[in-house]
Amino acid sequence: MVACYDDFAWFYNLYWGEEFHSAAFPILDRIWLRRLPPGARILDVCCGTGLLAARLAARGFPVTGLDLSEEMIAFARSNAPAAGLLVADAAGFGLPAVFDAAVSTFDSLNHLTEPPALQAAFRNIAAALRPGSLLAFDMLLEEAYRTHWGESFALVRDDHLLTITGAAFDARSRMARAKVTMFRRLDGAWQRSDVTVAERCYSVEEISRSLALAGFGELLCYDAGDLGMAGQLGQGRTFFVATKLD
Ligand SMILES: C[S@@+](CC[C@H](N)C(=O)[O-])C[C@H]1O[C@@H](n2cnc3c(N)ncnc32)[C@H](O)[C@@H]1O
Repeated sequence: MVACYDDFAWFYNLYWGEEFHSAAFPILDRIWLRRLPPGARILDVCCGTGLLAARLAARGFPVTGLDLSEEMIAFARSNAPAAGLLVADAAGFGLPAVFDAAVSTFDSLNHLTEPPALQAAFRNIAAALRPGSLLAFDMLLEEAYRTHWGESFALVRDDHLLTITGAAFDARSRMARAKVTMFRRLDGAWQRSDVTVAERCYSVEEISRSLALAGFGELLCYDAGDLGMAGQLGQGRTFFVATKLD
């Protein structure tokens, strides 16, 4: 499996994440964190640069984060030094059932573009959780892919620039893709890299079925906009909280 965030990690670490987590953390606090026992051991799946892991650790929770991208994990090591961190595929990891809660944020699970991979991720998370543990995650639904996904974005600085061009959502394949082109001046020379970020649009029914097959129940769904995540970040985004059954 190719970790497309490897090339993207420096940019992500500079610009992305803070705005999302400033809005997402109060939501997670309200729908999930307050329901956890003090000192709950938390697994952060697709933890990226560790911004959420750092916030959770600052609240006194022992956190383990995993991500497919070595470069994202390298930034997480400096952003969340108290967290345990490992490079692993959400669809292919195995950890003992020692965690009391799990989380996966910023539409990370939409990056699992094959339904069996999402199913495997839910199964692996369930296997790492004690019975009764709460899993919280957010995913983008069709509204997000049909509205702002296709919009372009560009950022130009003296020594780096980046453009993102989203392709129109393909309703037949359920796939959304965005092409990211980056230039960075390193040691006086410009370097170019191109990555394509691909996400799959799942329906709430597919997500709910997949969770049930993995051993989760008592699913709660919350529209991000209704919970105060303003603008494009919240549009078409749903937070889910599911309970690992006995
Ligand atoms: C949009 S970022 C979100 C990162 C982090 N959760 C956050 O909230 O800032 C998506 C992350 O998912 C990771 N990812 C994508 N596919 C993955 C997989 N199969 N297994 C583990 N991590 C994956 C990427 O490397 C990237 O760090």
